[in-house]
Amino acid sequence: MVERPRVVAVPFPMQGHISPLLQLSYQLAAAGIDITFVNTFRNHERLVGSREVVSKHSSGVITFMGISDGVAAKAFDGGFNESLNASLVASDEMAKPFEELLWKLDGVSCVISDAYLGWAQAVANRFGVPRVALWTSNVAYSLVNYHLPLLVEKGYLGVKDPSSVGFLDNLVTCVPGVEPIYARDLPTVLRYDSGEDPGFANRIRKIQALKHASWVLVNSFEELESAGVESMRRELGTQNYVTVGPLLVEDTGGRKSLWSEDEACLKWLDSQKPGSVLYISFGSIASIAGAQMRSIVKGLGDTRQPFLWAMRKNLLVPDSDYSERSFQEFMGATKAQGQGLIVEWAPQVKVLQHRALGGHLSHCGWNSVLESMAMGVPILGWPCVAEQTMNCKRIAEDWKIGLRFTTDDAKQQLVSDEEVARVIKKLFCEGEGREIKKRAREFSAIVKTAVSPGGSSHRNLERLVQAIKFGRL
Ligand code: UDX
Repeated sequence: MVERPRVVAVPFPMQGHISPLLQLSYQLAAAGIDITFVNTFRNHERLVGSREVVSKHSSGVITFMGISDGVAAKAFDGGFNESLNASLVASDEMAKPFEELLWKLDGVSCVISDAYLGWAQAVANRFGVPRVALWTSNVAYSLVNYHLPLLVEKGYLGVKDPSSVGFLDNLVTCVPGVEPIYARDLPTVLRYDSGEDPGFANRIRKIQALKHASWVLVNSFEELESAGVESMRRELGTQNYVTVGPLLVEDTGGRKSLWSEDEACLKWLDSQKPGSVLYISFGSIASIAGAQMRSIVKGLGDTRQPFLWAMRKNLLVPDSDYSERSFQEFMGATKAQGQGLIVEWAPQVKVLQHRALGGHLSHCGWNSVLESMAMGVPILGWPCVAEQTMNCKRIAEDWKIGLRFTTDDAKQQLVSDEEVARVIKKLFCEGEGREIKKRAREFSAIVKTAVSPGGSSHRNLERLVQAIKFGRL
């Protein structure tokens, strides 16, 4: 047995990827494993504020370190596309500095990297240690990525004009382990790739590289996606494709976000009736158009439902359709009515745990979905990008723990303010809403079992800890 094994953890440089790896690291540290957590300098400074920080967690120690990503700060300042591109460039540029850092560290037992950092496999191989990959999204999304060539061959993805008549209504049933899904709900990031696109080839390479990882950890739980887990195990030819989620550490004592959390909103929630508040958040990277912001604002105003809105400064796509002035007027009006509160960044897990919460209007980012599920809070799905469309479909149609907003195709797939009001009312005031709330509570109980001692995710994590400690990865 290795006395105090040391693991080097490296996330893809985005909040939605940093959180689960960080949470996994806290859990490994609590089990007596030392972690060196390597962020890009920019994220390192936002997360822990200085060059090297050590944080102690019962028996293990987490040391935070920063490396260069070679990308200018302003590249991250724009909307969704600019920020995503900057993160993608940064994620490749990190490879060399990461390897240089690795050679300077002593006693490293293994590398745990985000599954998107395909280069981590070659680096770990050269360094002579096993690589564990963390897939921060769900099993179904890993399967869709794995079967990209098949989906392109069948014409469901990689088409030049996905909005062409009938295309989006194709029912996709060919991905083993994934429930039938309409092409319109397939991940947006894949929909526009063409077969010859270098991004597409890159994606296939990264997912294929998972075959060489010693373990693939997935931020999901077996009870939710058991058929998918079996299917992915067959494809990768390994039993070490395991679910360890939800990776949800409620009180780490350390910081989890690149933004500082506005705790004052918890006091405001204390003053609200149980189950009455709608929490609104679009995660860390999505942006929405002015016309859509206007629909939410108007629909929300019409329902008078109390709300807490986590609104990042760059949430709104800069356009002329929704002016700063109309937003300020809305803020003034809701303040006057005492209807809601807006903060830049909320302590989301604590908010979702609060007894005042009744629903979560969410972009359906996977962490947000898991957090709501764990807390038994129903989701009103407003997917924006990536696999969020697919997550939203599963929430509303397969799991029935939420509702989705219907878009008006005649208006370029926009959601109207009437639709916003209709869906909010359905959740808070109608019988169907009560059923959904009941199911959400049932899912919460399943999550709690999965992460408790003896539960599926807990067992898989224990197996991983033993494999690391006994050098048997
Ligand atoms: C992205 C993708 O959207 C997601 O679909 C993919 O699976 C991972 O990367 P992001 O858009 O940031 O992530 O959404 P999400 O996965 O929900 O992660 C956001 C995280 O930020 C959550 O853990 C959430 O709790 C946290 N958050 C968000 C806050 O703590 N406060 C906020 O105000 C908003």
